[in-house]
Amino acid sequence: MTIIEFKSVTFTYRGNDEPSLLNVNIEIEKGEFILLTGPSGCGKSTFCRLLNGLIPHFYGGELKGEVTVLGMNVKNTPTYELARHVGMVFQDPENQLFLSSVEKEIAFGLENLGLPREEIKNRVNQVIKYLGLENIREKAPYELSGGQQQKVAIASVLAMQPEVLVLDEPTANLDPYSSLELLNIITRLNKELKITIILVEHRLEMLLDKVSRLILMDKGKIVVDGPPRDVVLSPEMKIVGVPKVIEVYNRLKKAGYEIGQPPLSPEDLVKAVRKAAGFHD
Ligand SMILES: Nc1ncnc2c1ncn2[C@@H]1O[C@H](COP(=O)(O)OP(=O)(O)OP(=O)(O)O)[C@@H](O)[C@H]1O
Ligand SMILES: [Mg+2]
Repeated sequence: MTIIEFKSVTFTYRGNDEPSLLNVNIEIEKGEFILLTGPSGCGKSTFCRLLNGLIPHFYGGELKGEVTVLGMNVKNTPTYELARHVGMVFQDPENQLFLSSVEKEIAFGLENLGLPREEIKNRVNQVIKYLGLENIREKAPYELSGGQQQKVAIASVLAMQPEVLVLDEPTANLDPYSSLELLNIITRLNKELKITIILVEHRLEMLLDKVSRLILMDKGKIVVDGPPRDVVLSPEMKIVGVPKVIEVYNRLKKAGYEIGQPPLSPEDLVKAVRKAAGFHD
């Protein structure tokens, strides 16, 4: 089932001469886990803003073409309606959290939906348990680490039970350990809860073996789109830098060593090399 569709979408922010998205066509199926990458300024955040209606409802400009999310044309759908189905998490959690406790933060969106008190309580408890936030439920967001804050941001949108989750560089301000932890949580949301994920991230290495599809943007356009194994071998990867494991794979190949399929993680690479060298684990 197609859950998101862009038809010839071109968007130019008010005051700009050049469009920030140029003739983008894409279909996303329910349950996909998409990694969206590309150089700074290529239009990734602009793409994300269209998914929950921030464009055109909050950012002015000229929108051509059609964006449909769960059958709703974003142009004609109020953002509060879209927010029930599309959760958004940004780079900077501090700007998203503003209440006096984690519990209140998670309940906020649900209260706005006008859900019964009991239902709100249940959902808050559910996500707190699912994300392991029991020990911080009464803390204020400003008392938390960046990684914890991002988990709370995810918990708040998760409580809305969205079909789609859009995360725009959620690990940009986190240390490597917290980043990995957050990416593992995001992977679980896709695998266990079947939420369709669109994740903007520069560090491909940590995600290639987890995502179902890799999309590379450049200058407002989608330049490559497909399964990570295919995309990583495309010449356009130069734009963002060829992942280390693929670089090693290519060098080995050039030197005459065939190790099978391109590896998508360091573990994959080690396994393939051991196998090719005749080691049996
Ligand atoms: N609010 C805005 N008003 C005007 N122009 C904007 C606005 N936001 C983005 N742009 C322009 O649109 C283009 C795409 O920006 P966008 O933020 O979507 O890129 P990005 O891929 O998310 O970059 P980054 O990796 O730095 O986050 C850039 O040229 C940018 O200057
Ligand atoms: Mg951005």
